[in-house]
Amino acid sequence: MLWADKYAPSRLDEVLGNPSAVKQVKEWAEAWKRGERQPPLLITGPTGSGKTSIALACAKEYGFQLLEMNTGEQRTGKTVERTAGQASMTLSLFGKMRLILFDEVDLMTSGDRGGLSAVAKILKQNTSPIILTAENAFDPRLREIRRLCKVIKLRRVSTRTIEKLLKDIAEAEDISVEDEVIRRIAEYSEGDVRSAINDLEMLARGKKRVTVEDLSVLSYRDREKGIFDVLKIVLESRSFSMARKALMESGEDPGFLLAWLEENLPRTHQHPEDLAGGFERLSRADVYLGRVMKRQDYGNIRYALDEMALVSEEKKHHRKKFMPFDFPQSLRIRSGIKREGYLLRSIFRKVGRKCHLSSKKAAESYFVLLKLFPGLADYFELDEDEKRLLESIK
Ligand SMILES: Nc1ncnc2c1ncn2[C@@H]1O[C@H](COP(=O)(O)OP(=O)(O)OP(=O)(O)O)[C@@H](O)[C@H]1O
Ligand SMILES: [Mg+2]
Repeated sequence: MLWADKYAPSRLDEVLGNPSAVKQVKEWAEAWKRGERQPPLLITGPTGSGKTSIALACAKEYGFQLLEMNTGEQRTGKTVERTAGQASMTLSLFGKMRLILFDEVDLMTSGDRGGLSAVAKILKQNTSPIILTAENAFDPRLREIRRLCKVIKLRRVSTRTIEKLLKDIAEAEDISVEDEVIRRIAEYSEGDVRSAINDLEMLARGKKRVTVEDLSVLSYRDREKGIFDVLKIVLESRSFSMARKALMESGEDPGFLLAWLEENLPRTHQHPEDLAGGFERLSRADVYLGRVMKRQDYGNIRYALDEMALVSEEKKHHRKKFMPFDFPQSLRIRSGIKREGYLLRSIFRKVGRKCHLSSKKAAESYFVLLKLFPGLADYFELDEDEKRLLESIK
């Protein structure tokens, strides 16, 4: 079991930070227990601040039977209505009251046609306790839903509080961790309790003592920061020479760079001409990389990088709106792109199901862990194909 699950709060009292929010949830649950109808709760706040944990702890502590509607993939209007709609009308088999959890409703996007309005319909009936979670309380798509809910906002958990938690975990696991390490992990986490616990687990793996020297394992963060800097230069500098330099010096696998560029190109090259030009460059880079693979002809890497660098010059218009860079949906490696994309999605759906996360967030939070600890593959019940794919990604 991952430490983030092992040490997740099982009672509301154990939830760290945000005391008044927790208190409101308690009062809400107690009122339902007395048979007093309460408006649905919309819990919002940054990632790893405890939104899902609060819902889960609430169900456990008050003996609600949890019905979780969390995999974005399945939440079409019909399924929402069928499962949650019916559940809210009836008591469970054992006469327990049901708590319906719509986790990460902000991720129910256009893909889930009718999903959000089906949710709204159920909120209006409001026959059993319902909790929704979302990162951003002001997401315009949630306007209708927000109107029907009582909104509870969580803030980042403080560094001090996270330090205390990490110390408790280290003690419970009987590992000695230098104070400086605890402090650095807590700081890095920026209030994201999940990432703090994951980092500690990663550092402590197989050790009895964790010292400052061990912190270098966390440098993957720098790697990710690194790739964002490269993206910025290639996609925004409009300078071929700077872009080429950044790509060459990144030391990253060209296939990896290509995947990041493809994912993020539409965010900067928003004008149709720029976008078409950029994709043209990237597909040429892809052809060159294909030759590297097929003929082991490494000279082609340079041409591929040049094509990628030329993406910078394809941007001829200002972009209309700011869109932050993102993790590639499909880390495309070599050929067989579809199948790999499919496998990757399936891997992170499995991870997400275990960790109560959407596949996208699961990929962001657990990709590196999975690479570092192949043993986790069994924990997440990955099959042989999925394991092989993970191994093949550098
Ligand atoms: N406030 C908290 N108190 C104690 N543990 C927490 C808290 N917040 C997060 N955690 C720990 O981090 C893990 C992930 O937290 P949780 O799933 O509640 O985050 P979240 O707010 O739902 O984030 P996301 O937006 O990414 O879904 C939990 O399993 C738990 O171990
Ligand atoms: Mg969550």
